[in-house]
Amino acid sequence: MGKYVGIDLGTTYSVAAFINEDGLPQIIPNDNGKNTTPSTVLFEENAIIVGETAKEEGFSNPENYEAFVKRHMGERDYWFTTAEGTKYSPEEISAIILKKLKSDAEAYLGEEISGAVITVPAYFNDAQRKATMDAAAMAKMNVLSIINEPTAAALAFGISKGKQEQQTVLIYDLGGGTFDVCIMRFTDKEIISLAGEGNRALGGYDFDNKIIDYVKEKAAEQGIDITKDVYAMQDLQIKAEQAKCALSAKDKIKTSIVINVQGKPLKIVITREEFNEMIENLLTRTISVMENAMEEAGLEYSEIDKILLVGGSTRIPYVREMIEEETGIKPSSEVHPDEAVAIGAAYHALEMAKNRACEEPAEMKEAILNSLPDSKNQYQFQDVTAHGIGIISINEYNEKVNTVILPKNSKIPSEGYEEFVTLEDYQAHLLIEVTQGEEEDIRYVTVIGTSELKIKPKPGQVRIRVSIGCDSDSIIHVRVTDLQDNEDLGEMKIDRIANLTEEEVKENTEKLESLNISGE
Ligand SMILES: Nc1ncnc2c1ncn2[C@@H]1O[C@H](COP(=O)(O)OP(=O)(O)OP(=O)(O)O)[C@@H](O)[C@H]1O
Ligand SMILES: [Mg+2]
Repeated sequence: MGKYVGIDLGTTYSVAAFINEDGLPQIIPNDNGKNTTPSTVLFEENAIIVGETAKEEGFSNPENYEAFVKRHMGERDYWFTTAEGTKYSPEEISAIILKKLKSDAEAYLGEEISGAVITVPAYFNDAQRKATMDAAAMAKMNVLSIINEPTAAALAFGISKGKQEQQTVLIYDLGGGTFDVCIMRFTDKEIISLAGEGNRALGGYDFDNKIIDYVKEKAAEQGIDITKDVYAMQDLQIKAEQAKCALSAKDKIKTSIVINVQGKPLKIVITREEFNEMIENLLTRTISVMENAMEEAGLEYSEIDKILLVGGSTRIPYVREMIEEETGIKPSSEVHPDEAVAIGAAYHALEMAKNRACEEPAEMKEAILNSLPDSKNQYQFQDVTAHGIGIISINEYNEKVNTVILPKNSKIPSEGYEEFVTLEDYQAHLLIEVTQGEEEDIRYVTVIGTSELKIKPKPGQVRIRVSIGCDSDSIIHVRVTDLQDNEDLGEMKIDRIANLTEEEVKENTEKLESLNISGE
């Protein structure tokens, strides 16, 4: 029947998990026996290497090495170009990582993967979510759902604790590339998202870069220019991360980085205090994001029962100290910072598989349900949208303005609508620009896609209703109704500016099939 898995497709590390026969969550080790796989890709002459080996060898072949690609998801003009000139989109690189995770999981479980739930940062926008789905399609993965990382962690936490009194939990998720805050209310069977905020480009990667800048500066003081040595720079990327992690160890007050620059060894000492200073501004930003989320939820810190830490970067002692200082709450490490997201996704994958089975004919349904493990304490969850979604229209002063149709923090799935009128007599087309953002001023919003629709030309102003829906994967849909004829004109196809076209996704799926990805 195949297995159902949860996949945390991280900026720096990816993790896969499943629910075993006893209904317990289990991490799926990769072919090196490790629970986490670096989200790194190395393009070699005959093969594509993913994970630990790519990360280790990348420094000797930097032109063919790509890491942190999740930062570029939903960027239409970002391409990774190999030394020999082959171009890869962020979706393709992510698909390569997903293919590797899938094949490792199938090898470990001895069965094929029938379906997966993939997680994304709560603060990911429509383009980034769509890009993730396209990557999964290219990897030929059957995606049952895309869910938010903090929600997955909340599921893992809720299920592991069992039924409890109602509590309000703030999830502080600081990973390798992104930062999310979600405030969730747990009842005995439901997890309800009250508010969420985040930063799509703030995480451990930025802390590594602070160390890199520091080492470059110290080297420059000695008259050494590291940037001239690509191999040293690549090595420094890895050593900076190692130094950062070393400084998280209890009582560790200093560490040193040793790299070879143009044939000569260079040693730079970094104290924990210096590191704290380097990252202080970035951490202060996480605190402001947390405050904004509290404001949106209309809560005071005294009403928060628990602050749950998720993401590898929450191992940094200064992160915990700063949170406690700001909130007066000692943050809790009750879930595994690297594994909770994949585990929550695995629980959800099982639940989705059961729901899907219920749509099958009786016999089939029985067979599928019998093949799936029982999982206790399943929670329902209710997420909210991370961004306002609207359209651009013309106001009475003939100016372009943004009208938010689905406000930020709307429950998912949901739908909102607004009425507009056509601009001209006998107008035959509707051009809709779909926006993301909360402001009326169009300079502060992003157009995520455009959509064109033929309408029946009529004299005078025709009243049009535009409905915007956000589905359970947080993908946006637009529907238009001609209110004069009361005619539903159907769903508009949005040309997403920041995403690949359907044809490109198809072409890339074929291209990826012909590639030799190591371990597949
Ligand atoms: N002991 C530690 N001290 C400091 N940082 C750590 C430690 N262990 C792991 N990290 C950092 O945590 C980050 C990885 O965390 P995680 O796996 O949660 O992120 P991710 O899932 O890859 O990223 P994201 O969720 O942002 O997409 C890396 O930047 C890593 O260097
Ligand atoms: Mg993560």
